[in-house]
Amino acid sequence: MRFLSTALLLAAGVSASTTTPSPSSRPSLKNAIYKNPKAPIDARVADLLSRMTLEEKTSQLVQGDVRNWLNETDNSFNETGLAWSTAHRGGSFYVGIAVPQQWISQAVKKAQDYIQTRTYLGIPALVQTEAIHGFLAVNATIFNSPIAQACSWNPSLVEDMAKAIAVESLALGVNQVFAPLADLSRELRFGRVEETYGEDSFLVGEMAHAYVKGIQSNGVSAMVKHFAAFGSPEQGLNVGPVHGGERELRTTFLPSYKRAIIDGGAFSIMTAYHSYDGVPAVADPHLLTDILRNEWDYKYFTMTDAGASDRLCAAFKMCRADPMDKEAIVKFILPAGGDVEMGGGSYSFEQIPAFIEKGIVSVAQLDTAVARVLKAKLELGLFENPYPGLAADKTGTAIHTAAHVALAQKLDEESIVLLENHNGVLPLSKKANVAVIGPLAHGLMNYGDYVVYNSSRRGVTPYDGIKAVVGKGGGKASYVQGCERWSTSQAGFEDAVAAVEAADVAVVVVGTWSRDQNELWMGLNATTGEHVDVDSLDLVGAQEELVRAVIATGKPTVVVFSSGKPVTAPWISEEASALVQQFYPSEQGGAALANVLFGDVNPSGKLSVSFPRSVGSLPVYYDFLNSGRDELPDVGGAYENGTLQFGHQYVLGDPRPLYEFGYGLGYSKFEYSGLSVDKRNATEKDTVTVSVTVKNVGKREGSEVVQLYVKDLVASVVVPNLRLKGFAKVGLKAGESKKVAIKVGMKELGLWNARMKYVVEEGEFMFLVGASSRDLRGNVTVGLKW
Ligand SMILES: *[C@@H]1O[C@H](CO)[C@@H](O)[C@H](O)[C@H]1NC(C)=O
Ligand SMILES: *[C@@H]1O[C@H](CO)[C@@H](O)[C@H](O)[C@H]1NC(C)=O
Ligand SMILES: *[C@@H]1O[C@H](CO)[C@@H](O)[C@H](O)[C@H]1NC(C)=O
Ligand SMILES: *[C@@H]1O[C@H](CO)[C@@H](O)[C@H](O)[C@H]1NC(C)=O
Ligand SMILES: *[C@@H]1O[C@H](CO)[C@@H](O)[C@H](O)[C@H]1NC(C)=O
Ligand SMILES: *[C@@H]1O[C@H](CO)[C@@H](O)[C@H](O)[C@H]1NC(C)=O
Ligand SMILES: *[C@@H]1O[C@H](CO)[C@@H](O)[C@H](O)[C@H]1NC(C)=O
Ligand SMILES: *[C@@H]1O[C@H](CO)[C@@H](O)[C@H](O)[C@H]1NC(C)=O
Repeated sequence: MRFLSTALLLAAGVSASTTTPSPSSRPSLKNAIYKNPKAPIDARVADLLSRMTLEEKTSQLVQGDVRNWLNETDNSFNETGLAWSTAHRGGSFYVGIAVPQQWISQAVKKAQDYIQTRTYLGIPALVQTEAIHGFLAVNATIFNSPIAQACSWNPSLVEDMAKAIAVESLALGVNQVFAPLADLSRELRFGRVEETYGEDSFLVGEMAHAYVKGIQSNGVSAMVKHFAAFGSPEQGLNVGPVHGGERELRTTFLPSYKRAIIDGGAFSIMTAYHSYDGVPAVADPHLLTDILRNEWDYKYFTMTDAGASDRLCAAFKMCRADPMDKEAIVKFILPAGGDVEMGGGSYSFEQIPAFIEKGIVSVAQLDTAVARVLKAKLELGLFENPYPGLAADKTGTAIHTAAHVALAQKLDEESIVLLENHNGVLPLSKKANVAVIGPLAHGLMNYGDYVVYNSSRRGVTPYDGIKAVVGKGGGKASYVQGCERWSTSQAGFEDAVAAVEAADVAVVVVGTWSRDQNELWMGLNATTGEHVDVDSLDLVGAQEELVRAVIATGKPTVVVFSSGKPVTAPWISEEASALVQQFYPSEQGGAALANVLFGDVNPSGKLSVSFPRSVGSLPVYYDFLNSGRDELPDVGGAYENGTLQFGHQYVLGDPRPLYEFGYGLGYSKFEYSGLSVDKRNATEKDTVTVSVTVKNVGKREGSEVVQLYVKDLVASVVVPNLRLKGFAKVGLKAGESKKVAIKVGMKELGLWNARMKYVVEEGEFMFLVGASSRDLRGNVTVGLKW
C-alpha cells in the first residue's frame, strides 16, 4: 500500500450523517446475543447485524486512518476527527506512520475506548499496519525481506517471525497486518520481487501459510495479499495487466493463496491492483465469488488495496473518472465480492446508503459484506478484548526484545545463499586483514521497501558485522566505499584499490537498493521496491566496474550481492573468488553475513527465485510448461574475452538460468542414497511417502534442503515440466546420515483438464529428489490407477 499524506485522507469531505438514532432511543443491549462470548459466532453476527443502521453497516466497510485524530507532528488529539472517523470509516483504521510508539498506542486506545463508551453498538475496530518483514513501527524489529526469508526454506522460522511480529503489533493495539504476500515473482523486472516468497507456488504457499499460522496464533489477523495472480505485470511495470488464462490461474497462481487463505484460516484478503485477462482483480466476480466463496468456501472479508477502487474508472476506464463515478465503483466491487474499501481514493463506499436508496446495490449485498467483517472480528476475539496493548512504559518488554532481534539474525543467516566458492576461499580466517568495499557495505542499511521512515539509519551493516568478528579473532577490517550506488563516478576507485592492496582479502558489497515507506514515494532514486521497476538486472552505476577494479588487484575477492532481486553479472561468478547472495537483510544483516563469511554459520540458503544470465531471457522460472526450454539448447555467447560464439537458443545467450531455483552451496557436501517410496502403485486417495538418506560427507556440521519434485509423465494438457511438491531442511553433523521422509498426497498431482475440471489422471508420476531443481540426485516412478 502506498503511503498517504494527511491531506489526501481528509479530502473526501463527507457531511456528517444525521440518520443514526441516538443511543438512548435504541433498545437496551443488556442481553444482546452478540455480546455473549458463549453464543455461537454466526448467531452473534446475525444478532448484531439486525441491530445496525445502514450507516453503521457502511462504516464497517470503509477504512479510516489514525491521522484523522492523531496529529503526526505534535501528537495533539482531535476528538471531532475521531468521532467523524468512527461514524464514517469505523470498521478499521491504518496506523503505519513514523511517530513514537506511545503516540500510536495512545491513539489506538482512545479510539477503541471511544467506540466502547460512546457508540451504541461498540464494534471494535480492526487496527491495521504493514508487516511483511517486521511490524512497521518506529524501533520495532526489522526482519529480512520475504524473498530472502524464502531462501531459508524453513517455514517454522517464518512462523516464529510472524509470532514475534504479532507480539510487537499487539503491544500497541494493532490487531491486523497487511501480510503475507502469496504472489509469485515470475517477472523479475517488477519492483516488488523482494516482497514475495519467490517464483514457485508450493514454496510461496508454505511460507505464506506459516506466516498466517504464526501471526494468528498470537491473536493478530493476517490479510493475505494481493489476490490474485499479482506480480507478473506486462513489461514488469507496477500494477500493469497480467496476462493468463483460467488454466494458468488455477495451476500456477492460485495454489499459494489457497494454502495461506484456506489452510491457514486467514481472517482477511487484500485484492490486487491489476487486471487479469481483462478483468480487474478488485471487482472480479469469478475470482471473488465463484472461486473464493463458492469453491473455497471462504467466510471472511476482502479489502481493496489503497486507491485501488478508483482505478476502475481512472486506470481501467470502466467508468467516468472526472468526477469519479462512485456509483459505478460500488456497483462493480460490492456485488463481485469486494467487501471493504481501503483509503487512498475517493471513498466511494461511503455512499452505500444513498446507493441502496437508488437501487444501485441491495441491503442484502451490504449485509453479506458486513457479516464477513463482523465474523472476522468476533472470531478474532476483539469484542472480548478490544484493546490488547501494553502500558506506554511496558512496550519495551514486547517490542524489539533481545529474543526477537536474535530471531531476525537466525532467519537472516539461514537465508544467505552461497553461489560460488572457488577453491574453498570461504570461510575466511578471523585473523585476516579484510578490506570491505562498496556502497552497500556501510553507511545505510540496505533494507527493502516496507520499513518505517528512517529505518536505514539503524542496524548492523556488513562492515559493522565483519569488523566485530575480526576484532575478536585477531584480524583487521577497513572500509572504503569506492563509489556511490547512484553514480558512475570512479573517483573513489583509487582509494578502494589501495585498501585492497594493503589487505589479505576483499569483500565487495554491491547490488540494488530500495527506500523506506515514506522515502519510497518522495521521488528519490532507488532500483527496487513498489513502483520502482527496471529494464535491466545489471548493476547500476560504477558498481560493476568497482568489482572489476578490486578483482584486478589479484587479491582474493568475495563479492556479496545485497539486493531485492537477482542481479545479472555472470562474469563475476567466474572471476570473483566467491559470490554470496544476501537478499535485503534484517537489522542484524551484517552480523549474519559475517557469521557466514567467517564460518560460524554454514550457509544453508537455497534460491527462492531463478537467476537469469540477462534480462533478455526472462522468464526463467524452473516450472515452465512442457515444450518450453530444451534441456540442451544450442547456446551462444558474447564472452568477456571478446569471443563471439554463435548459437541459436539464443544466438549470443543461454535461455537457462545461471542459478536455478533451489540452488545454493554450503561448506559441507551432502550425498543422497536409498531413494524409495512406500508404494509403487497408488490411487488418487493415497499418500505416498518418499524416503531418502542424506549424508553429510563434509567436515562441518550443516543443513541440507532436500527437495522433492514431481513430473507428470503423460498428461492430457500441457503441464509444468517439473513441480516442487515437498521439501525438508535437515541438520547433519559431519559424517552423520539421516533418513528423510516427505509425504505427498496423490490428489495434489492433478491438473486442470481441457474442460477446466481438476482431475488426477491415471498414469505415471516421477518423483525426483535433489539439492535443487536441476541437481536431481535420484528418481522413482509411481503408477496411479483410479
Ligand atoms: C498538526 O500540528 C502542527 C503543529 O502543531 C500544525 O502545524 C498542523 O497544522 C497540525 N496538523 C493538522 C492536520 O491539524
Ligand atoms: C479535526 O477533525 C475534523 C473532522 O475531520 C476536521 O474538520 C478538523 O479540521 C480537525 N481539526 C484539526 C485541528 O485537525
Ligand atoms: C528509537 O530507539 C532509539 C534508541 O533506543 C531512541 O533513541 C529513540 O528515541 C527511539 N525512537 C522513538 C521514536 O521511539
Ligand atoms: C530522519 O533522519 C534524519 C537524518 O538523520 C533526521 O534529520 C530526521 O529528523 C529523521 N526523521 C524522523 C521522523 O525520524
Ligand atoms: C540519490 O539519492 C540521494 C539521497 O538518498 C542523493 O543524495 C543523491 O544525490 C541522489 N543521486 C541521484 C543521482 O539522483
Ligand atoms: C573466451 O571465453 C570463452 C568462454 O569462457 C571460451 O569458451 C573461449 O575459449 C575463450 N576464447 C579465448 C580465445 O580465450
Ligand atoms: C531418473 O533416474 C535414472 C536412473 O537413475 C536416470 O538415468 C534418469 O536420467 C533420471 N531422470 C531424470 C528426469 O532425472
Ligand atoms: C504400478 O506402477 C508401475 C510404475 O509406474 C507401472 O509400471 C505398473 O503398471 C503399475 N501396476 C499396476 C498394477 O498398476
